[in-house]
Amino acid sequence: MSLENEIDFIQKSESINPSKEYRAKSNVQSFAEYKAIYQQSIENPDQFWGQIADELDWIHREERVSEGAMPEFSFFPGSQINVCQNCVDRHANHPQRRNKVAIYFEGENGERRSFTYLQLYREVQKFSNVLLALGLSKGDVVSVYMQNLPETYVVLLSCLRLGIIYNTVFAGFSPEALRDRIVHSHAKVVICANASYRRGKILNLKETVDAALRDEHPVQHVIVYSRIKDMQVSMDPMRDHDYDELMRCASPVCEAIPLDCNDPGLLIFTSGTSGKPKGIVHAGGGFLLGTYAYSKYQLDLHDEDIYWNTADIGWLTAHIFVLVGGLALGVTTIIYEGAIDYPHQARVYEMIEYYQVNKLFSAPTAYRMLMKYGEDLAKKYDLSSIELLASVGEPLNPEAWHWIYRVVGGNRAVINNTWGQTETGGTPLASLPGATPMKPGSCGVPFFGHRLDVVDQEGHTVPVGTPGFLVIRTPFPALARDVFGDRERYINNYFAPMPGTYFTGDSAVCDQDGQYWVLGRIDDVINVSGHRISTMEMESSLISHEAVMEAAVVAKPDDIKGTVPIAFVSIDTTYTANEELSRALQRKIVADIGSFAKPERIHFVNVMPKTRSGKIIRRMLREIIEEGTVHGDATGLEDSDILVTLIAEVNADSSHHND
Ligand code: PRX
Repeated sequence: MSLENEIDFIQKSESINPSKEYRAKSNVQSFAEYKAIYQQSIENPDQFWGQIADELDWIHREERVSEGAMPEFSFFPGSQINVCQNCVDRHANHPQRRNKVAIYFEGENGERRSFTYLQLYREVQKFSNVLLALGLSKGDVVSVYMQNLPETYVVLLSCLRLGIIYNTVFAGFSPEALRDRIVHSHAKVVICANASYRRGKILNLKETVDAALRDEHPVQHVIVYSRIKDMQVSMDPMRDHDYDELMRCASPVCEAIPLDCNDPGLLIFTSGTSGKPKGIVHAGGGFLLGTYAYSKYQLDLHDEDIYWNTADIGWLTAHIFVLVGGLALGVTTIIYEGAIDYPHQARVYEMIEYYQVNKLFSAPTAYRMLMKYGEDLAKKYDLSSIELLASVGEPLNPEAWHWIYRVVGGNRAVINNTWGQTETGGTPLASLPGATPMKPGSCGVPFFGHRLDVVDQEGHTVPVGTPGFLVIRTPFPALARDVFGDRERYINNYFAPMPGTYFTGDSAVCDQDGQYWVLGRIDDVINVSGHRISTMEMESSLISHEAVMEAAVVAKPDDIKGTVPIAFVSIDTTYTANEELSRALQRKIVADIGSFAKPERIHFVNVMPKTRSGKIIRRMLREIIEEGTVHGDATGLEDSDILVTLIAEVNADSSHHND
């Protein structure tokens, strides 16, 4: 299918309505209701955000809702709010919620613990006092190098309580990646776990912190939480502190401080395509308003939900939908430490059954993994509690969509393929469970108060069904407020390309029903002899072959055709990578899309370069193809060791082909 045909596919796509049972209990119950609220929220966004604000606790509230235009905008200027107070105190002080479980923790090693809202409140106040005792105050930066643990939540909530800007770094990043982020953000304190379980191995996180701090650095203190109690790590008596010891001595009461709604709250780095990673700054109060609204309406969270979001805390998704959005709504969440298919492939199902999870949020790559593990495995578990399956970060291809709908969701759950970016601090596009008809492959509809548009080079809205650049025309509270220490980069990247709008860098199509289909990054569209092909469509075709576990397609410059597609696939271990399979995959793409889309080469690889959120970094594959190595920033990789293997695999494969 060329892009033109793909649009045809989008126009004719089926739509599945949410079940009556689900609809009856959802926050918005029909598409007509969504449209009416949406229309009003666009005509008067201040009224919408004002209503959201009414549902939160404020320390001081001014009447004004918003001020300015992009990029110099603010929400509730002069009003004071505290994120932690909204996520913890107000539930701990609520007679029906105080003893409710806020967090169920499950370690990869099988360990189980739980924290009620009241317990969380106690821990957070104590740790806030620990931070104050180390001399930290509003506006200071700390780096947090911890995996998913309740204590990580305690640490982050304490920072939010005091206006200390936190920066979570995925606990698996290399010492260089960690160092880059610490130095770049002038972090005064690093908080880490001594170790983490990952796929049965023990990662020594403290060792990584020590290596990251070998040369000159701004760090005055390191706090070490002993995840593995009997594991000894080296401690520098002048710099390092034991979390448990500090907590034992900490006094129990610490009030949340008043913060302007636009004060910076958190900092999260995205891996840039070149040069230094960007530190995306979110306003604490703005992030709370946005994530509360997304979690309430797009995940349709309710008090009785048992909600599991598998995202790692190193990824913004966990902050959007669990730490801030989820806890602000007072739900019970599950935090899981390690690999979701360890020690066996059915770990996800086992946990759904054990906790009776009704809302699951994961990455498309995880859903595809379950699909490859097969239906028989899923059938062994009771998954009848599932009501909603959500994802973000990558296309949820129609095949995976249908599979999870049928096998995990029992043909009744709502599937929500949400679209968002680290910069948007949430998901401006998603379905509203219970209200929006579901179209497999689409990213749903614009969220209340967000005016999205698909435009051409000049910024004019393109007709329905035509691909273009995805932009957002109105500011919203969770939109990033800055690139740390680099205002110019913030403006140039996001607001200069189409003045007056936030430029997402993605291409998309809006269909006749107002649903949006994100086609991928603008750079990812391949043009072969004048045919524009979406890499997403080609990858979908490859993934639907039974041998293929993961697929990525990139463009290689070609003197004659402009660019030609090159495919990377990792295959199921029961298949053999050989010429025959390669030809079968080429034939599949030709049959599904057309002969012009036939990949010039299929590279079989054991590993894909992925971000911590499971996203394949296609740019690296392009660099390997073109230059035999990776030049740009590689610190965003989940596992930096894989590059050497990957480059060797591809180069060996290429020379073999050239023989
Ligand atoms: O290209 C889009 C893709 O992921 C990018 C954002 O990545 P990141 O900042 O890591 O996401 C954090 C999520 C809070 C987008 O520019 N993307 C995200 N969701 C989807 C998607 N592509 C297709 N379909 C999606 N649902």
